[in-house]
Amino acid sequence: MVKEKTRRFCLSRGAAGKRCLKSMEKMWAGRFQKTLDQTADDFNSSIRFDCRMYAQDIKGSMAHAAMLSKQGILSQAETDKIIDGLESILKDIESGALAFDMQAEDIHMFIEAELTKRIGDAGKRLHTARSRNDQVAVDIRLYLRDEAEEIISLVKEAIEAIVGQAERNAETIAPGYTHLQRAQPISFGHHLLAYAMMLLRDIGRIQDAKKRMNFSPLGSCALAGTTYPTDRAFTAQKLGFNGAMQNSIDGVSDRDFCVELLSAFSLLMTHLSRLSEEIVLWSSWEFKFIELDDSYTTGSSIMPQKKNPDMAELIRGKTGRVYGDLIALLTTLKGLPLAYNKDMQEDKEAIFDAIDTVKMCLKVLAPMLETMTVLKANTYRAAQKGFINATDLADYLTKKGMPFRSAYKIVGQIVAECIEKDLVLDNFPLAEYQKHSDLFENDLYGEISLETCVNKRNSFGGASAKSVLAQIEWVKEELKK
Ligand code: ARG
Repeated sequence: MVKEKTRRFCLSRGAAGKRCLKSMEKMWAGRFQKTLDQTADDFNSSIRFDCRMYAQDIKGSMAHAAMLSKQGILSQAETDKIIDGLESILKDIESGALAFDMQAEDIHMFIEAELTKRIGDAGKRLHTARSRNDQVAVDIRLYLRDEAEEIISLVKEAIEAIVGQAERNAETIAPGYTHLQRAQPISFGHHLLAYAMMLLRDIGRIQDAKKRMNFSPLGSCALAGTTYPTDRAFTAQKLGFNGAMQNSIDGVSDRDFCVELLSAFSLLMTHLSRLSEEIVLWSSWEFKFIELDDSYTTGSSIMPQKKNPDMAELIRGKTGRVYGDLIALLTTLKGLPLAYNKDMQEDKEAIFDAIDTVKMCLKVLAPMLETMTVLKANTYRAAQKGFINATDLADYLTKKGMPFRSAYKIVGQIVAECIEKDLVLDNFPLAEYQKHSDLFENDLYGEISLETCVNKRNSFGGASAKSVLAQIEWVKEELKK
């Protein structure tokens, strides 16, 4: 909660672009005769967006300081001062007592400068055997590790909402579609569960990306490692990584883990977008399969009757943003020589935007799904039209010995006759049926009833209520893993 508040503060400050008259002196000013031009300084600075990694930056610095001390590179007394100083900075940022200085070049410089302000010379020793290049690489990994976990739990909430609706609608008969044409009758719960399966795989993809990401670049330094006797395995372990990255250049110069996560998020958004599109369709007067809860719909400024599915439309719309973030980062990386280049600072806005967008979408989608009402009478009525039991009628003949292709042809002719006479298969007279084949008997009507059509679809993964309940059990088990 506090974290959220601080974040908002730092972002709004950034947007306001408030600037001091006298630019803060750069840590690297020694080599220069002139100060950096103000516009160039603003252009270069990343604190307005990387300030959200303050906790990870502090955590990384603490592990680094502990390692320097263990290796005898820093004295115990200096290390204690550094750790205390970093703890007090963390506390003050979280309480709001310390505001980010938008004149700082980035979050790393800000925290280091603040530390030195608080504890003096010991603060200046923290950056021994480290560079901002490995520092930022470790910060972003730590940050994404946490965010990925949060996104996974939000996806789980969306899956639970889908499962809840599927449970309530296992027996709800609806038309299933291909080409957006009524195709075969299904349980509405079955349709919904298809999305649960997609989202489960999305979780798998995020977890998979996380596994590869969870190695520590800390100690790679600028690009070439260091002459100090560092212990990279120690910092890796302290920070919860599965080990230290093997190659220092790779450690500071790849952002493949961001791309992997963005790809997983893009695909997740594809799934949310398709579901959203169906929600938009289903809530139209043309379908009226569902009614969204008032709290997830909006009205029109001019048309008093309107109840618009804005949330679903926005999820569909924001999908493009996340794709854009993925393409932006891929494009940023494609021409970069090794090792670090400032272009890489662009990774953060892309991945942060995707994270914020995905989280917002999931947070609104889950309760919207949970609170929507499925209009069972309407889905049933829709299933009665469109000859969606025609396959079952062909199967009826096939089960009586006729080859499927012949049965298919006869049923096609019967459908054409029904259309001509404004009838459906269910009220086409038996005598008429028998003109096409003497295999037709009175039992055909039971065989092509919607209930039979759905509930006999008991093949593994099929559309029956029984299958839906089995799928729900499976999804619930997967969610526990
Ligand atoms: N703000 C920079 C980034 O996000 C931190 C690393 C800067 N390193 C450097 N050598 N200038 O990429």
